[in-house]
Amino acid sequence: MLQDIEVLFKIRRFDPDVDTMSRFESFPVQVKGMMTVLDGLLQVFEEQDSTLSFRFACREGVCGSCAMFINGSYRLACQTQIRELKTPEISVNPLPHLKVIKDLVVDLDPFFNKIEQVMPYLETLTAPPETEQVQTQAERKLINEVIDCILCGSCYSACPVVWFNKEYLGPAALTKAYRFVADSRDGLSPERLNQVSHEDGIWRCHTVFNCVEACPKNIQPADAIEKLRKKTISRRLKFWK
Ligand code: FES
Repeated sequence: MLQDIEVLFKIRRFDPDVDTMSRFESFPVQVKGMMTVLDGLLQVFEEQDSTLSFRFACREGVCGSCAMFINGSYRLACQTQIRELKTPEISVNPLPHLKVIKDLVVDLDPFFNKIEQVMPYLETLTAPPETEQVQTQAERKLINEVIDCILCGSCYSACPVVWFNKEYLGPAALTKAYRFVADSRDGLSPERLNQVSHEDGIWRCHTVFNCVEACPKNIQPADAIEKLRKKTISRRLKFWK
């Protein structure tokens, strides 16, 4: 039986309507059992300060809406157990480098605009089949990892190229593009490669690997970008032959 403990949540607060600068506010949290950071935030909201703003939906690591910067790392609040952090104080920040709407809620519109630009859906060149489109195990293996992206925005927030170049598509959108380029059922691979092969697409990545470190689902966006580059180059070489 786990003993209840108390930890101090230090939460970054900011309301652009009234604040000129952000600040940390501290809240004691009573930790019972295997409470997550999201459970702790809900406790603060319900028992101490109902003006605290944060996002969540699924509470099981699927929707991506609770991504935050917790104790100096990108994490999903609903998948981060307070006891596993092993610190008496827990700092909770919004995703860095993104515009804060309020407290832990950031503006993800620029992020989702980039996702939209890469056509994040299957397109076939023929009429949809009447039965399901079966893939072989080998075909499915090619997208096994990238299909797990939950669009939490962590890699986008962590990418230094995004910080300085707002036009750059970013690691999540490029990973999404690769997910469809590599999908045996998709028919738009050449168009997709053309679409990401420009100075604010695959060639802008500096291979810093912050995206790999930030991803809470252990996806490797830098690897997906590299594969898009290889496919683009080999396609052009074939064209020139
Ligand atoms: Fe959906 Fe955390 S609430 S991923």
